Amino acid sequence: MISENRWRHILGVARKCKKYAAKFKPDDSKYAEDMFLLGMLHDMGYEFMESNASHAAVGGEILKRNNFRYY
Ligand SMILES: [Fe+2]
Repeated sequence: MISENRWRHILGVARKCKKYAAKFKPDDSKYAEDMFLLGMLHDMGYEFMESNASHAAVGGEILKRNNFRYY
């Protein structure tokens, strides 16, 4: 399950993703929105894990199943 601390981390990562997206592609606001969303989702696997071992694989599988667009 995602802890309160993890939620703060997730929001911090999402905002950094948005910031760097705006640097890489300053004229593409949709890219910044997409990168913010990716930041918000990057640790979603923790919600479904008892241990932290494979949260990335679990989260990636959920995103693939939902046709998330990868860059
Ligand atoms: Fe993370």
